Amino acid sequence: MTLSPHCYDDASRAAVYRAIYERRDMRHFLPRPVDPETFRRILQAAHAAPSVGLSQPWRFVRITLPALRRQIYELVQLERLRTANALGERHAEFLRLKVEGILDCGELLVCAAQDGGTEEVFGRLSMPQMSLASVACAIQNLWLAARAEGLGMGWVSMFDPQALANLLKLPEDVQPVAVLCIGHVAEFYPAPMLTLENWRSARPLKELVYENTFIPASTDEAAEHISDKSPLAAK
Ligand SMILES: Cc1cc2nc3c(=O)[nH]c(=O)nc-3n(C[C@H](O)[C@H](O)[C@H](O)COP(=O)(O)O)c2cc1C
Repeated sequence: MTLSPHCYDDASRAAVYRAIYERRDMRHFLPRPVDPETFRRILQAAHAAPSVGLSQPWRFVRITLPALRRQIYELVQLERLRTANALGERHAEFLRLKVEGILDCGELLVCAAQDGGTEEVFGRLSMPQMSLASVACAIQNLWLAARAEGLGMGWVSMFDPQALANLLKLPEDVQPVAVLCIGHVAEFYPAPMLTLENWRSARPLKELVYENTFIPASTDEAAEHISDKSPLAAK
C-alpha cells in the first residue's frame, strides 16, 4: 500500500516514533538545572495539545521554593504510605519501589485542570471528565518533547488533591492532576521501571483491541495485522 502524500520523510517519522517508544516514566534524576529555553520549548509543546472545545483547561504551577517542594514531597510520602497499607500482601514490595524524584529533579511542575464550569460545555456536557482528558494530552506532549530534548519526566499522582490544592492556594474550580518531575537523567530506563522491578509487565496490544463488539477476536488472523511495535521504531 502506498503511504499518504502528507507523511513526513523517513527520518522525521522515525524520530516521532523514537520519542514515543523511548519515553519513560523517570524517577531518578541528576541534581542539575534545566536550561530555561529548553524548559520554555517543552511547556510550549504541552500548550499545543488538543483540548475539548479548544478549552485549554491545563494550568501549570512551577515550583521554585525549596520549602514548598519539600512540602509536596511530604504529601506524596503520606499518600505512598496510604497506598502501601491498601495493598495488603504486596505492601513491602510496593514500599521498595521508587515512585517519585521530587527532591532531585531540576524542575517541579504541578499540572492542574480548570474546566470553566457551565461556560465551557462544548464537548463536555455528557462527559465532564473531558477536561481531565485534555490535560492528560498536554502532559503527554510535555513528556514526549522532554524525551526529544534528552530530559526525563515522571508523573506523580500519589497525593491528596485537596491537600495539594490547599498548599498551592488553588481556586475551587482548579483541580491538581499531576506532580511532574522534569530533569536530566544519567540514562533512560530501557523498559518501564515497574517491569524492571518485576511489579507488573505490559500486556500486548492484540489483547486490548476488539472488532465491532467487546468479544475478543477468536482467530489469529483477526489479531495478526496488529503488531506491537511500529516497524519504524523496531530496534
Ligand atoms: C495518570 C498516571 C499517573 C501516574 N502516577 C504515577 C505515580 O504516582 N508514581 C509513579 O512512580 N509513576 C506514576 N505513573 C507512571 C506509570 O507507572 C508508568 O507510566 C507506567 O509504569 C509505564 O511506564 P513508562 O511510562 O515508562 O512506559 C503514572 C502514569 C500515569 C499515566
